[in-house]
Amino acid sequence: MNTGFLNQIPREIAALDDYAAYAKNNLSAEAWAYIAGASADEYTLEYNAKAYSEIKLLNTVLTDVSHGHTQTQLLNETLAHPIITAPVAYQKLAHPDAEIATAMAAQAQDGLFVLSTLASTTIEDIVQKTQGPRWFQLYFQNTKQQTLELIQRAKAAGFSAIMVTVDSPINGLRNREQRSGFSLPAGVAAVNCQQVLTPNPIKQGESQVFQGFMSKAPSWQDIEWLMKNTDLPVLIKGIINPKDAQKAQQIGASGIVVSNHGGRTLDTLPSPIEVLPQIAAITDYKLPLIVDSGIRRGSDIFKAIALGASAVMIGRPIFYALATAGALGVAHAIRLLRDELELTMALCGCATLADISQDAIWQK
Ligand code: FNR
Ligand code: LAC
Repeated sequence: MNTGFLNQIPREIAALDDYAAYAKNNLSAEAWAYIAGASADEYTLEYNAKAYSEIKLLNTVLTDVSHGHTQTQLLNETLAHPIITAPVAYQKLAHPDAEIATAMAAQAQDGLFVLSTLASTTIEDIVQKTQGPRWFQLYFQNTKQQTLELIQRAKAAGFSAIMVTVDSPINGLRNREQRSGFSLPAGVAAVNCQQVLTPNPIKQGESQVFQGFMSKAPSWQDIEWLMKNTDLPVLIKGIINPKDAQKAQQIGASGIVVSNHGGRTLDTLPSPIEVLPQIAAITDYKLPLIVDSGIRRGSDIFKAIALGASAVMIGRPIFYALATAGALGVAHAIRLLRDELELTMALCGCATLADISQDAIWQK
């Protein structure tokens, strides 16, 4: 059942999660399985949602926060708030305005937009039709030359940082998606890529995983190659292991995204919020840490910042808001989160993001 796109937001949508039911109505069952689904038994998807609820806040009363704001500096950007729209592929599945709508909404809300390598809108179209700070998410391409061309195109178009995703050199076990029989419908494609990513051809007795996909997968050397071949800051997306975080810092990454890809790659990974304190400590509180996966409330953003994050990214709920009401929905979703963050800050006696610390997390 497609109820059509809304051109005003009903009062029933009071929180981010309220968008899911509307989006489900507007999407095909297969597209819903692709977007909402995760890897294997979806335990990590469940942990992502639960982990934040298990962290309790400790408020502080009677504090003057009348000078408060949510402004922050993230690499080369001064942002009005720390809420970033995550790189999410194929947004035409949700709405004909797709990535243009998401970028416009982020811009209207003074936020930062990240375009996926697998976007269904061209880089050039985004630049023509939207403004505002934008970063480019990179998946390595079939050849170094193609990878280089892609990042040069992004740079020429004014994208001001590269976020290279490293946690999915091979697709997770997307069982829900497989069961639904999902495939991209006509008119939805990764329009910025010259070729579909293909595994190496394998000989008899070889493994599709090791000799097929993984022999094409990027390594730490390739990330160093990338950093040498662009003057844009490079952030590494998809780190959970503190040792990997340390390595990212050692090779000079400009930041990392502590993420389990919304539970879509390896099932039973912990939630990013569980590993964040260790990652912040091992990187000496010096590396910008962006956190995603399971953030649904302003209080979740507050908790992430308290435990060491500089900013957060939102994936599925942005897609759901887009599928419900296009740019209007996405702008509303970002605004909801910002309002909730401000409220949490005020009730915890924090006037600025810099005031948010572990003191606002309840310890037994
Ligand atoms: C993603 N994500 C993703 N990440 C990335 O680096 N490149 C991509 O193209 C995509 N595509 C994509 C498609 C869909 C449908 C989803 C749901 C997710 C992952 C995304 O950037 C982010 O890490 C997670 O979505 C965060 O988790 P939540 O907010 O969805 O729980
Ligand atoms: C996904 C890929 C595109 O999560 O990153 O579906």
